Amino acid sequence: MEKFIYEYPIKTYFGANAVQEYLAEAVKPYGKRVMLAYGGGSVKKTSVYDEICAILKAAGKEITDFSGIMPNPTYAKVQEGAKLAKENDIDFILSVGGGSVIDCCKIVSAQAKLDEDIWELEYSKGGKPSEFIPMAAIVTVTGTGAEMNNGAVITNEALQQKSPLWGTYADFVILDSEYTKSVPQKQYISGCFDTLSHCMETYLGTPQEKNNLSDDINEAVMRSVIENTRKIIANPDDSEARSELAWASSMAENGILKIGKVTDFQAHTIEHQVGAYTNCNHGMGLAVIHPVLYRHIYKDAPWKFARLATEVFGVNPDGKTEEETALEGINALEAYIKEIGLPTRFSEMGITDREVIKKTADTCILTAGCCKKLAREEILDILTECL
Ligand code: NZQ
Ligand code: ZN
Repeated sequence: MEKFIYEYPIKTYFGANAVQEYLAEAVKPYGKRVMLAYGGGSVKKTSVYDEICAILKAAGKEITDFSGIMPNPTYAKVQEGAKLAKENDIDFILSVGGGSVIDCCKIVSAQAKLDEDIWELEYSKGGKPSEFIPMAAIVTVTGTGAEMNNGAVITNEALQQKSPLWGTYADFVILDSEYTKSVPQKQYISGCFDTLSHCMETYLGTPQEKNNLSDDINEAVMRSVIENTRKIIANPDDSEARSELAWASSMAENGILKIGKVTDFQAHTIEHQVGAYTNCNHGMGLAVIHPVLYRHIYKDAPWKFARLATEVFGVNPDGKTEEETALEGINALEAYIKEIGLPTRFSEMGITDREVIKKTADTCILTAGCCKKLAREEILDILTECL
């Protein structure tokens, strides 16, 4: 194990009917003026918006709507939210949605307390915000685990960068996986793959030691995601599988799997930059990148890829070299992606522009934790193979 400090500030209410059971009590400590933040309207098509408004009103809260937070939230949307929060002297932000709404609100919460531009503060001055409007999250689509951390991925359209910013942690999270039943199936499955991606990016970070409890737990989470995604494909109504996937999604991002490890997240930083140019779906972009990236790097950590193959993808290592087992595991990963209906080439997502590929290779963040330190030329090769 590497040295670590682990501290966790988020209270989680998990399970069916959790909003009805816990929201009224959970919002009591905060002031009257609540900003209710949500996306493009799914919460109004379902009964979620009405349900939450009724509880907030009964609790004596005044509601200011912050609506229209788009998938892959933009920096302009963050600024709009911060302005609204300042103008209305907001006491508390309740974000209701998936990764996009929650990420946007983490940064709105910080920007509303700052006199300077938060992108400037974090990227030019190397600073971090220290004051926040308290924020909480009600999750309506799982997969990103965004509710469990204080990192937000924001698209700065002016700079053509989709990059992390650090904002607030949610004070509390309400996670009722029944809410996810109205999510379009393809969107939901891409979220499931995002969870698997977070697990793999954590598991395969610069592999130093063979004996690591975080990796043992991680293997269990990955097996659970694979098995329960298959159950949802067979039966989208399977509430038990949805609740398992909801907690797996949180587990992948609540820090536990990362304890004592150097993580990778190279597939993510490449995908985020593809997203900056194309606004593509996050989980689908990752599905394309993972197998191609792994075929480029597995020889630098064959034992770890072989362990992923045997422990997670059920590859039989008998009579095979580590490299052969590792490669069979990557092939099994690709077959699984196809089985669950996600793309394995960008062209399936309508991305065919070689200029986008070149710009992505030139500008994506290179991570320190990838088991092979990649040069930009190699990222260009990887992305070209993804087309
Ligand atoms: O906007 P509405 O109308 O609500 O529709 C949304 C949106 O179109 C819809 N949706 C959400 N809940 C629904 C629903 N539709 C019907 N019923 C419901 N109950 O789903 C669509 C996608 O929502 P979005 O929030 O964009 O999806 P997701 O949760 O996958 O979030 C993706 C964003 O999170 C970032 C991604 O980069 C991307 O910007 N990530 C954040 C992470 C973090 N902070 O830890 C980690 C991830 O790696 C990821 O990068
Ligand atoms: Zn992700």
